[in-house]
Amino acid sequence: MTSIASTFKTLCLCLLFIVVVSRPTVRPKVFNVKRHGSIPDGITDNANAFTSVWSRACARRSGSSKIYVPKGTFYLGGVEFVGPCKNPIEFVIDGTLLAPGNPNDIKQDTWIKFRYINDLSISGFGTLDGQGKQSWPLNDCHKNPNCPKLAMTMGFAFVNNSKIKDITSLNSKMGHFNFFSVHHFNITGVTITAPGDSPNTDGIKMGSCSNIHISNTNIGTGDDCIAILSGTTNLEISNVKCGPGHGISKDVKGLTVRDIVFNGTSDGIRIKTWESSASKILVSDFVYENIQMIDVEKPINIDQKYCPYPPCKHEKKGESHVQIQNLKLKNIYGTSKNKVAVKLQCSKSFPCKNVELIDINLRHNGLEGGPSTAECRNVDGSASGKMVPKHCLN
Ligand SMILES: *[C@@H]1O[C@H](CO)[C@@H](O)[C@H](O)[C@H]1NC(C)=O
Ligand SMILES: *[C@@H]1O[C@H](CO)[C@@H](O)[C@H](O)[C@H]1NC(C)=O
Ligand SMILES: *[C@@H]1O[C@H](CO)[C@@H](O)[C@H](O)[C@H]1NC(C)=O
Repeated sequence: MTSIASTFKTLCLCLLFIVVVSRPTVRPKVFNVKRHGSIPDGITDNANAFTSVWSRACARRSGSSKIYVPKGTFYLGGVEFVGPCKNPIEFVIDGTLLAPGNPNDIKQDTWIKFRYINDLSISGFGTLDGQGKQSWPLNDCHKNPNCPKLAMTMGFAFVNNSKIKDITSLNSKMGHFNFFSVHHFNITGVTITAPGDSPNTDGIKMGSCSNIHISNTNIGTGDDCIAILSGTTNLEISNVKCGPGHGISKDVKGLTVRDIVFNGTSDGIRIKTWESSASKILVSDFVYENIQMIDVEKPINIDQKYCPYPPCKHEKKGESHVQIQNLKLKNIYGTSKNKVAVKLQCSKSFPCKNVELIDINLRHNGLEGGPSTAECRNVDGSASGKMVPKHCLN
């Protein structure tokens, strides 16, 4: 009897010991927004409640924090979450964050802003509902210089080593996600949607960023799926579904785009540079590989005479000063709505250098009838493997 009892005691001590040593010492402290003054009635503005939870979580010295947004609809005016924080911080959104319907009720350029933060993780199966419908008819900036400033849904500035996972962004007023001066950031499993005819609802927009990975993401909006502005390096995009929308546009160094499906978009691979870009910019080392086009209007479109609303102000100043070089397009296949499936229209002053086409198979299935064609201007490069349409490089 005693031996059983003492064995049991030893066992208990062992269990206790295991429990004690295996308890994670780094488990984050959870801040459930509902227990900190937020009301999920879809009407009460929770902006102050959210920012005060953020301040407490961000200032916590003894370990990491997790801000939890449970199921429910949390109305939020404009909010800004500013670091630096003492420790890594998580934002888990399982509910819906609802933006004001009236664009004037967001008194900043971005509805939800994150600034000066390291080690931020945003995840969850919730939704950012930008309620853009009421704002889209107001967007006439291409012809009205006094057009209203509409807010983007979520923005990151000066944020490093961070990530977004799984959340959905719905019906932004302008762009959905904006990144400025962000380094080492992963975007995965995210869904971004707005109607195909909603103006300027870019999916992901970035400038002056580096080492961004975008993967397993579904983007269907009224504008660019991914818009890349100058100063961006080492961007990797893979397994992204893009459509409806305009495609991916860029102005950067070091870009790899793999395993993408463009479905019903106006553009597929697009590099646009304004005709009047004044200073010389280098766009180099781009690889596009394994890209499927389904009824895309302009599957491959390099356009250095980009001028969406002619006449362009500086049209007479001359050709683009953007130098495009080392561009590889490999295994690009599917269907083109326009007869011109491959358009390489480069600058007269700075012709495209070292453009490599490998295994291109783009059939024309639009109304004009006849096979697809290619158009080149001021391009130097090479072609190998399957070539439909017949290439136009010299
Ligand atoms: C973020 O990374 C950039 C580039 O590596 C660096 O210059 C910057 O100081 C970093 N910012 C912070 C807040 O650590
Ligand atoms: C991003 O993903 C890559 C590859 O999966 C990983 O090596 C890297 O640590 C991740 N970075 C962040 C900031 O999560
Ligand atoms: C392409 O989009 C159309 C219309 O939205 C849809 O019916 C079709 O299933 C999509 N195809 C693929 C391969 O995703």
